[in-house]
Amino acid sequence: MPRIVKPTAEAIAEAAAVLQREGVVAFPTETVYGLGVPTLSRAALAKVYELKGRPRDNPLIAHVLDAGQARAIAAGWDERCEQLAGRFWPGPLTLVVRKAAGIPEQATAGYPTIAVRSPSHPVARQLLERFGGAISAPSANRSGHVSPTTAQHVFDDFADVEDLLILDGGPCEVGIESTVVDLMRTPPMVLRPGSVGADEIGQVLGREVGVFGEMEQAASPGTASSHYAPRTPVVLVEPGEVERAVGQMRERAVVLAMRPVEAGAGLAIIEMPREARAYASGIYDALRRADGLGAERIVIEMPEEAGALWDAIRNRLRRAAGVKSD
Ligand code: TXA
Ligand code: MG
Repeated sequence: MPRIVKPTAEAIAEAAAVLQREGVVAFPTETVYGLGVPTLSRAALAKVYELKGRPRDNPLIAHVLDAGQARAIAAGWDERCEQLAGRFWPGPLTLVVRKAAGIPEQATAGYPTIAVRSPSHPVARQLLERFGGAISAPSANRSGHVSPTTAQHVFDDFADVEDLLILDGGPCEVGIESTVVDLMRTPPMVLRPGSVGADEIGQVLGREVGVFGEMEQAASPGTASSHYAPRTPVVLVEPGEVERAVGQMRERAVVLAMRPVEAGAGLAIIEMPREARAYASGIYDALRRADGLGAERIVIEMPEEAGALWDAIRNRLRRAAGVKSD
């Protein structure tokens, strides 16, 4: 069974020792929990793909303490990276740049580029500091399942794993994965939307930044076969259409809506926050809870508010409903 531990100095030291022995540890970041392995350990990288059941062609994000550590693994680290790191790090922005020589194939699924970010969560930072090197970490869920935002979520996905250390840093504050921006493209392109918007990135770079459409995202590295999906089928409905949609359904449904919904027979309601940050930080927990209620459908009222974070939330909701992508 996995072991959930409080992130005491001893626990951080133990987790760092697991990494030193080329093992896998689960740790919190401000976005979602990660399943960490040393970026330079081929053996550990292979283990993390195995554990997640992750397609071998889906590259990993390397987590670093700061720009100095990023430079050591990213040959393409340039002035733009300095500017973006200066503005958004530590935080939920991942930069895709040319990788340095000596980075194992498995760290980047064979791509000549590497995705790098510096997390702000204090437990992630203590682990990076204690370990002393870059940590590659995909989200700590089984491939294709909903991302984890609590230690318990990680436990639930890996309950059958003999010995997995999970550092418990509480619920993740941001709650959805980092923005991934590809700086190798002209113009730079957001491959995965997150709480840092393309316009904010563009302001720092002094140029326009593109955003991949969702169908095109399915064509970005290794993302064709997985999505962030609960096991229960998800149906998205327009704002205000919930009552009509569930009224026509024969199945027992769970509804995620941002306002009180008339509960009919066999209907469970999970009321979602109206504020973007609160919605994002609670979305994966809500999807996991909805999944646990034994309903036949999860009905989600699509939020219609404008803004980068709402765009990222809608992106995750569409993926939960099965729009294939990462
Ligand atoms: O917030 C996050 O980014 C979390 C926490 C743990 O840091 N991590 C995360 O990792 O979401 P993962 O493995 O679930 O998603 C990594 C994403 C994938 O969409 C992958 O295709 C993209 O980053 N990616 C990684 N390396 C890339 C590369 N070299 N080129 C393009 N995309 C890359
Ligand atoms: Mg993931």
